[in-house]
Amino acid sequence: MIYVVACVAAIAGLLFGYDEGIIAGALAPLHARFDIPPLQEGLMTASVPLGALAGTLTAGWLAAPLGRRKLLLGAAVLFISGALICAIAPSILVISLGRLLLGLAIGIAAMVAPLYIAETAPAAQRGMLVSIYQLAITLGIFGAYLVGFAAGDSWRVLFATAAVPGIMLLVGVARLSDTPRWLVLRGRGEEARKALARIRGLSTGDSAVAKEIAAITAAARDETGSWKNLTGPVARPALVVGMGLFLLQQLSGINAVIYFAPTVFEHAGFSETGVQLLATVGLGAVNVVMTLVAMALIDRIGRRLLLFIGFAGAALSLGLIAFAAGTGSDQLQILSLVGLVVYIAAFAVALGPLPWVMMSEIFPLHLRGPGMGAASLTNWTFNVLVVLTFPLLLDRLGLAGVFAIYAAVCVAGLFFTARWVPETSGLTLEEIEAHLKAGKPFRRLGETQASGAAADVNIAPLPPAAVSSPVATAESVLGPGVGRS
Ligand code: BGC
Repeated sequence: MIYVVACVAAIAGLLFGYDEGIIAGALAPLHARFDIPPLQEGLMTASVPLGALAGTLTAGWLAAPLGRRKLLLGAAVLFISGALICAIAPSILVISLGRLLLGLAIGIAAMVAPLYIAETAPAAQRGMLVSIYQLAITLGIFGAYLVGFAAGDSWRVLFATAAVPGIMLLVGVARLSDTPRWLVLRGRGEEARKALARIRGLSTGDSAVAKEIAAITAAARDETGSWKNLTGPVARPALVVGMGLFLLQQLSGINAVIYFAPTVFEHAGFSETGVQLLATVGLGAVNVVMTLVAMALIDRIGRRLLLFIGFAGAALSLGLIAFAAGTGSDQLQILSLVGLVVYIAAFAVALGPLPWVMMSEIFPLHLRGPGMGAASLTNWTFNVLVVLTFPLLLDRLGLAGVFAIYAAVCVAGLFFTARWVPETSGLTLEEIEAHLKAGKPFRRLGETQASGAAADVNIAPLPPAAVSSPVATAESVLGPGVGRS
């Protein structure tokens, strides 16, 4: 049964990536059909992350009263409707509205799917399952690029294809029950026991089921942290790291490339649309492969070293493109291609996965929910900012100017990592929490403790109450009590 849960979560991740990546292939044919000034292009593109911002808040509001299953069903319906509205749209305005719905669905799914996994996966598999979700996002982007390449000028077909995984999600979720934890929170203990037994493949009378239900109930009682406590002395250093990493992830310009890759290639001297789209597919593949590399490295070489490699690689590659474009180099095509490949590789190996991994590790247990909520909102807010401003900045400053800004952000990322980011690999979540509570400098984490060699923090079992972490995100991001039922 847990594999069904993993599949459903993976489909949600695929949809996330697919709807992010789809605009890349659609922009050229849309430009051929409509007259789209830069501001309108920015708005149409940014309507997805903008909708996602609203979706995150909506999920925060509704995850408690409606439950995770109904929200995921709602997201699936929104995915299908948004795709179909875009497919039959008579104007850019209607496409933007359709994309706003898609964004809303992404925001909900991006919050509820990991939440569903966290609440149902056995502790030992939780990290791996969350990683599958991230990998699915990159596969979704890659899939959208491939279909964009194959669809050519048929942008209506391209948009319509997004309805297919939406239907898969609808069918998959319809088969699932709600999570045992949500059922416990609603006082539906008997149903919770049945749901858990089904997911674990055990009988309802099994003592393991009773034990886990007892742990869930105790953890739910313990969950007292609220949004306000995040700025207190214990959680503040974690908040700075959690929000800071997402701010830097987004301002490194990743979604200028993910959403506008063919446009970037056009400015880099690739004049043929087919070549631009093919190069875009290549970038999507690099993104997937390097995410797999990241999954293999993340617990071996440590978070800080990976971040240094990622920020340095991204700063150098973006700087190279800015230099080549700014000096009008006659090698612009090849330098930009190399620069973009290195940039995506540096992003995927570190700047992509690490903010997600660290956000799930660094907050004290009772504040993990609001902390992850704040980090997610930072992610979407700066995603909107970059996607909205990219066409305008490109118009005003050219490729060299925009990429020079993103490169400068990555240099700032190196300083941020050196000054603020602690090393969490090899430490248990309890050790991280004890360090924060002792009021020691967060950055020094791990330096005073034996790093416990191979303890695999990401994949290691989270303490029972961590099962609730994203739940609390959903329920407490809007303030204390929102999630209590
Ligand atoms: C980011 C997304 C981005 C994706 C690219 C994620 O970690 O949050 O904004 O589009 O990586 O793979």
